[in-house]
Amino acid sequence: MRQFWPAFVLFFRMRIIPKKTHDFFYNIVTSVLRARENGEQEKRGDFIDMMMALRNDDCNQNSKLVEDDVEITDIVIAANAFIIFLGGFETTSSTLAFMFLELAANEEVQEKMREEIRQVEAKYKEITYDSLHELTYMEMVIQETLRLYPPFPTIQRVCTKDYAIPETDVVVRGHYCGVPYLGHPRDEQYFARADAFEPERWREPRAPPPPGVYLPFGDGPRYCIVLRPIRSTVVGVNSLVSRIGIVKSAVYVSG
Ligand code: HEM
Repeated sequence: MRQFWPAFVLFFRMRIIPKKTHDFFYNIVTSVLRARENGEQEKRGDFIDMMMALRNDDCNQNSKLVEDDVEITDIVIAANAFIIFLGGFETTSSTLAFMFLELAANEEVQEKMREEIRQVEAKYKEITYDSLHELTYMEMVIQETLRLYPPFPTIQRVCTKDYAIPETDVVVRGHYCGVPYLGHPRDEQYFARADAFEPERWREPRAPPPPGVYLPFGDGPRYCIVLRPIRSTVVGVNSLVSRIGIVKSAVYVSG
């Protein structure tokens, strides 16, 4: 509603985040900020330290704000911490949930993944940042999960230049656009047996999907901030799949 009818939301002061959640985040972030400012907590080179450095930056302190500049205040730091939490937490947990659903239904894929983990663990003795890069089959499984179940079904943009919609006399500018993303990845035109869960389709060498067809992490300058978000998911999968088997429940209904 906020995207389609922002004035309505502002007028009625509607909350997108419940007050309890808002206060919880704000209080945690500000208490850490104060503790680091007073030297009660050591610096850790993390997100909070980076935001504090930005706030203390000359630009933020001395120069006059120009249009579109944002002053780094406690609430801005808390809001950004919340976005990182939301962007990283919900996406990863939803990807894992759908992956486990498919692993329960495809035991041969699960066993292949487990075997790959065993081999990499045997080679490195433990899972390290470098060893994660050798879990190539697992990465294919995650790519396939994100093809069928992308956590973000649309990517949102605002049209900043005049755009004439082809074959119409409609010109849009300043409009909110939702780029739908659920259809293309399940379109037979782009992926053979598009509804089937087949991680092997991502095995290299392969032709990349046409531009705009596979966008689980978005596209352009607002692309997901995590350079390889797939890796964050890998860490979670690795520790679970290597130790437990995922099986269908008695009430499993094949889709
Ligand atoms: C499977 C994991 C993930 C998926 C599928 C995913 C997907 C996405 C998508 C579709 C966008 C919008 C991109 C666009 O509009 O073009 C996005 C943006 C973002 N993601 Fe992720 N993400 C994942 C993991 C993470 C993690 C682990 C973090 C942080 C720790 C994160 C932080 C963010 C942030 C802050 C943005 C906003 C970037 C901006 O607006 O400039 N994401 N992500």
